[in-house]
Amino acid sequence: MLVHLKGLLTPDELRRIRATLQAPDAPWIDGRASAGAQAALVKRNEQLAQDSAQAATLRDIVLGALRRDALFFSAALPRRIYNPLFNRYRPEAPTYGAHIDGAVLHSHSDGQWVRTDVSCTVFLTDPDEYDGGELIIHDTFGVQRVKLPAGDAVLYPGTSLHAVSPVTRGARLASFLWIESMVRHDEQRRLLFELDMNLLKLRQQLGETPETTALTGVYHNLLRQWATP
Ligand code: NI
Repeated sequence: MLVHLKGLLTPDELRRIRATLQAPDAPWIDGRASAGAQAALVKRNEQLAQDSAQAATLRDIVLGALRRDALFFSAALPRRIYNPLFNRYRPEAPTYGAHIDGAVLHSHSDGQWVRTDVSCTVFLTDPDEYDGGELIIHDTFGVQRVKLPAGDAVLYPGTSLHAVSPVTRGARLASFLWIESMVRHDEQRRLLFELDMNLLKLRQQLGETPETTALTGVYHNLLRQWATP
């Protein structure tokens, strides 16, 4: 399941993040520093040094935006979040070939181990600011190519093979992170998400009815069966 989170960041948050990442003293390092052996072979990008003051500040902005986003909560059912990281692709360091992310990652900011059930990319530059740089996701329904407006984000299953196509002009800035979900399996999360979204629409159309109350009970009883809080 792919989910598009529109306007995850406010214009002000986006401005602050971009100003920090585009400042001359931003500590960009070789992206291979954080890649496993297979991924390092195909990774050619830059990342903001994780232990820098800049990374700590920007991380908090992204986490704050995720925490207030109801669609994010419904789609990911987050249990733990791996500290958001920041990357840059430009013609000098343009691409990340096909790979699958590590299954369990150690989060530097809070020392937790996080199982990567859901992946998230937050776009920080607009599509017209760079050529290429599409997030290519091999989903069960085929190949999806994702390039979103700045401030928007996409959620996709951590199990997916994915890549970033080469950037041939400009610079693509993004934040990326992983979520360990209360509901481990993508299929179960998808069913809960569909039920939740359709209940929302039914309530808008009809208000609260005995049927919406009953279906809300079904949602919670499924969540009770499947969730590990
Ligand atoms: Ni990846």
